[in-house]
Amino acid sequence: IKRIRTHHLREMKQRGERISMLTSYDQLTAQIFDEAGIELLLVGDSASNNVLGNSTSLPITVDELIPMTRAVSRSVSRAMVVGDLPFGSYQASPEQGYLTAVRFMKEGGAHCVKLEGGVEMAPQIERMTRGGIPVMAHIGFTPQSEHALGGYRVQGRGETAERVLRDALAVQEAGAFAVVMEMVPGDVAAEVTAELDIPTIGIGAGNRCDGQVLVWQDAFGLRTGRLPRFVKQYADLRSVLLDAARTYDAEVKDGSFPAAEHTF
Ligand code: KIV
Ligand code: NA
Repeated sequence: IKRIRTHHLREMKQRGERISMLTSYDQLTAQIFDEAGIELLLVGDSASNNVLGNSTSLPITVDELIPMTRAVSRSVSRAMVVGDLPFGSYQASPEQGYLTAVRFMKEGGAHCVKLEGGVEMAPQIERMTRGGIPVMAHIGFTPQSEHALGGYRVQGRGETAERVLRDALAVQEAGAFAVVMEMVPGDVAAEVTAELDIPTIGIGAGNRCDGQVLVWQDAFGLRTGRLPRFVKQYADLRSVLLDAARTYDAEVKDGSFPAAEHTF
């Protein structure tokens, strides 16, 4: 496959092949993750709290996220680049959402966009799809609604499982090509995955989704400390960088860097 398209993802689901997705917000991680074979790179609004220094995803703006989207889309040759629509940039109306999504496609070079919400976002998804923009939905726990949902909590436990299934069916019906499910019980996510024709991408949603997504700084250990239970740490980049920075600092201060071979 030269470039990942929405139909490839659907075919992967039909063949029972898993789909991998990571966040990326810059040129070099985009190149590395693309080379590794990751199908989907999400320029997440999680850049708010992983790049820009905020404590949640709420404050990031369209103008802040579009340059990162452009950096990623310029840097991949195979991966599909997902532009994540920031809080407040699409909820007001389908027209608002469409115009924001167009900016991510034109200015950011995104190949598709992602928005949070189920049944209530069906008009937005329909409008974007009708206007030629592939949409990935995001249901279950939706971080932009943290304050409305009463904090970070698993969605779809007990009687509310029905709600997750309703949201999933609504976004599929509205035209979404895939759906992220965040912090949903594994059994519920498995049922939704079996019911849908479009691929499901889980984060904290167990092992029976069609794919998985993680924030790269969490997965590769650049961020440490208290992390959600659904994160697996595949590397310890924080230690690697901390050691390198300390060694550099020491060598600058003791005069051993730069040596003769670094000098003209
Ligand atoms: O912004 C983000 O990183 C996300 C995912 C983790 C799904 O929306
Ligand atoms: Na996001």
